[in-house]
Amino acid sequence: MALSPKAVLGDANVYTLLQHLVGAHLARKACIEALEPRPGDHILDIGCGPAYYLDDLPACDYYGFDTDTRYIAHARRRFGHRARFFDELYTEEHRVTLPPFEGVLLMGLLHHLDDAQCNDLLALMGRSLVPGGRVVSLDTVLFDGQSRVSRFLARNDRGEFVRSPEAFRALARRHFARVESRLHGDTWRMPSAHFSMVLSEPIQAAP
Ligand SMILES: C[S@@+](CC[C@H](N)C(=O)[O-])C[C@H]1O[C@@H](n2cnc3c(N)ncnc32)[C@H](O)[C@@H]1O
Repeated sequence: MALSPKAVLGDANVYTLLQHLVGAHLARKACIEALEPRPGDHILDIGCGPAYYLDDLPACDYYGFDTDTRYIAHARRRFGHRARFFDELYTEEHRVTLPPFEGVLLMGLLHHLDDAQCNDLLALMGRSLVPGGRVVSLDTVLFDGQSRVSRFLARNDRGEFVRSPEAFRALARRHFARVESRLHGDTWRMPSAHFSMVLSEPIQAAP
């Protein structure tokens, strides 16, 4: 029986290995640098998966959420002594019970969510930050002039909502006054292209 890419990548070790093979871990490193986390910060990571990049963060109060129980079980085995993991959706109830966050990571998440889900999540992220806090997102992307390999990888991503840079930026601008973005990859070292955004100054919805 043939295994689907989804089933194969559901194994945390296979997923992590593939990330390193296509250079995607380098984009994660760049995103963590852009978050500028400091020791003791409260860091929220939604769609954390196995959180294989946790060692790139300083000693901080880390909360990882993912709806995939296999990834969370793997993350707990590896990092459970110094981080908290939740195999559930992050909701308004978590926002009111957990501390506010200096930094939020959404790495590899928005392209798994439709526009309505992205809007709900980005609004909730804005409410979850301390004043001056920031959100960093990273996603597979489709754009004109992309290499064939990169386009193939983007079209075959598990996420069903791979967007253009403009579409990602438009979603973010509804919720954050400051949106800085960057394209990563589409090179031999990182054949899979990624698009990152640093979001700050949340726009509060009218009560
Ligand atoms: C591409 S993986 C990224 C994992 C990790 N952040 C990384 O950068 O390697 C996307 C993850 O998002 C998770 N996911 C999808 N929708 C989610 C949601 N609404 N809430 C939390 N996790 C979600 C998936 O289970 C998957 O582990």
